[in-house]
Amino acid sequence: MRIPHEFGTIPQFSVEQKEPIPMRSHYCGHINESLTNETITLCGWVHHRRDHGGVIFIDLRDREGIVQVVFDPDTQDAFAIAEKIRNEYVIKITGRVRARPEGTENPDLLTGQIEVLGSELDILNAAETPPFQLDEPHIHEDTRLRYRYIDLRRPEMQARFQLRAKVNRIIRGFLDEQGFWEVETPMLTKATPEGARDYLVPSRTQPGHFFALPQSPQLFKQLLMMSGMDRYYQIVRCFRDEDLRADRQPEFTQLDIEMSFIDETLLRGLMEQMVRHIFKESIGVTLAAPFPTLTYKEAMQLYGSDKPDLRNPLQLTDVKDLMQKVEFKVFSVPANDPNGRVAALRVPKGKELSRKQIDDYTDFVAIYGAKGLAYVKVNDITKGREGLQSPILKFLPDNTIHGILERTKATDGDVIFFGADKAKVVNEALGALRLKIGEDLNLVQQGWKPLWVIDFPMFEWDDKENRWFSLHHPFTSPNVQHAAEITAENAGQCLSRAYDMVLNGSEIGGGSIRIHDPKMQSTVFELLGIGTEEAREKFGFLLDALKYGCPPHGGIAFGLDRLVMLMSGSTSIRDVIAFPKTQTASCLLTAAPSSASEAQLRELNIKLRNKQPG
Ligand code: AMO
Ligand code: AMP
Repeated sequence: MRIPHEFGTIPQFSVEQKEPIPMRSHYCGHINESLTNETITLCGWVHHRRDHGGVIFIDLRDREGIVQVVFDPDTQDAFAIAEKIRNEYVIKITGRVRARPEGTENPDLLTGQIEVLGSELDILNAAETPPFQLDEPHIHEDTRLRYRYIDLRRPEMQARFQLRAKVNRIIRGFLDEQGFWEVETPMLTKATPEGARDYLVPSRTQPGHFFALPQSPQLFKQLLMMSGMDRYYQIVRCFRDEDLRADRQPEFTQLDIEMSFIDETLLRGLMEQMVRHIFKESIGVTLAAPFPTLTYKEAMQLYGSDKPDLRNPLQLTDVKDLMQKVEFKVFSVPANDPNGRVAALRVPKGKELSRKQIDDYTDFVAIYGAKGLAYVKVNDITKGREGLQSPILKFLPDNTIHGILERTKATDGDVIFFGADKAKVVNEALGALRLKIGEDLNLVQQGWKPLWVIDFPMFEWDDKENRWFSLHHPFTSPNVQHAAEITAENAGQCLSRAYDMVLNGSEIGGGSIRIHDPKMQSTVFELLGIGTEEAREKFGFLLDALKYGCPPHGGIAFGLDRLVMLMSGSTSIRDVIAFPKTQTASCLLTAAPSSASEAQLRELNIKLRNKQPG
């Protein structure tokens, strides 16, 4: 930068300062034939080094890709350094781009038509032998997490984070265009009831008091609507201390959205448009328009799940009414139980399943509490009972058998599985079996199958705790006009104004139209067994705010990690989170969580019940 003359008092050296010279002229991955004969400078990591009798090849890697650099003994100094370098050294090279000799092109590399003939080489930093080679096929995940900074150098990991950044950028662009404001909400806050355990943070200034890290910004985004912000969004970290799975992390990121003066049709329409836009712009995929919609009841009936994978063509069929009078108690008892279900799962060409495979499936459904897995093999449907093969045929009268075949649209070669139990058990068992058989028999189609699930029950009865729970959260509006319409007797039938977005069997988003009437909110709290005092203590601020002019409003939150996981074709959420936690919610890289010093604990007024592990 040139300093103008009037700043005469500024020391002379400032006037002499030059524009900074960039260390490199290009990214490795951007070198192609158009640069032939040009002299370029690159920086990066040594991906591989091969010594081919007098000529040294270096695959040089940076974020954008890999390029081949050649050093021959003619460039003495550079060659001598090239002999010393090892994998993962950080180097800077200068050289001339040239076409690769005929027959040595590499069609797998974007830079595969050219190479760089190196003339200068600097080692910017040496590297110890890394704990694993970047292209090793099966690196133990613990090792990857322990040395995450090396793992993240792998091209496929970098591609995932590039995609994630792109998705964030597209989301921000879309929502900005639609008039949404990005507003940040607190991390040190009060518990939000989303159904998981809270992460607590002790307060030093108020001994014995704790902040909770947000399970979601639910209450704050509702307050923002009451503040007249009208359209809010945030890409925000949420914290939930819950059992981890392949698609769950204790801290994860939501795309959180809330809007005023809308209904579910408007909101869902806009969110669909956004998701379609994300897919089109980031991975060039055109999603269905509109997304199909299933009610919760339909989803359970057909798929035994509220997040059905529609790429899998198998469906469940209800046969409860056909089983009420049969002598076979395994079927007739649940068939006559209001909470029972008897359902069939027809598997086309399933006849080829061996006895052993069927036994394995029986063990599989047992994980979900099923007490057995009855089945019928259809050999020749024209022969009626004689054309079937099954251990339970003898228990079923002709008209029942006829009814089953007709309703399941069975044809020769099929096998029909049965689940009979409490509806919850049958849904879980046959729902999971449907997915497993779909995978095993290669029935799952390629592609993207988004859908909405709507009309969820408002409340769910918990036998163990003997009380109602919200299926979403307690701020979700029931689908009734007046609070008086909800009673303890009809709570089980009450539907909510909630919706989930499901993609390929994964719940990628969920939301609802909210309660904006204080009377309705107290009624719902009451039904959930949250007494007036408890409600005041926990959510007094929200109840107060409802009294001071609250617009009708609603929103949704997407699991951004899950969405990017699916889009990038990963099967683990950890692959799209830079520094994820393990199954036991710890970080192998930093060794968090760790113990706190006596002094820190004293300052926080905390005394441990058991001595800390060393
Ligand atoms: P919900 O609890 O359904 O709704 O969360 C919204 C979405 O967040 C994702 N998600 C997770 N992703 C990774 N790890 C987790 N532990 C995890 N838990 C949830 C899911 C889910 O669909 N406040 C409401 C939203 C609203 O009503 O607007 C909420 O948090 O993809
Ligand atoms: P059992 O009379 O218990 O030997 O069962 C006869 C057949 O019914 C076997 O094929 C069992 O696997 C099956 N079966 C038992 N209980 C159930 C159930 N709850 N749901 C579906 N099939 C069952």
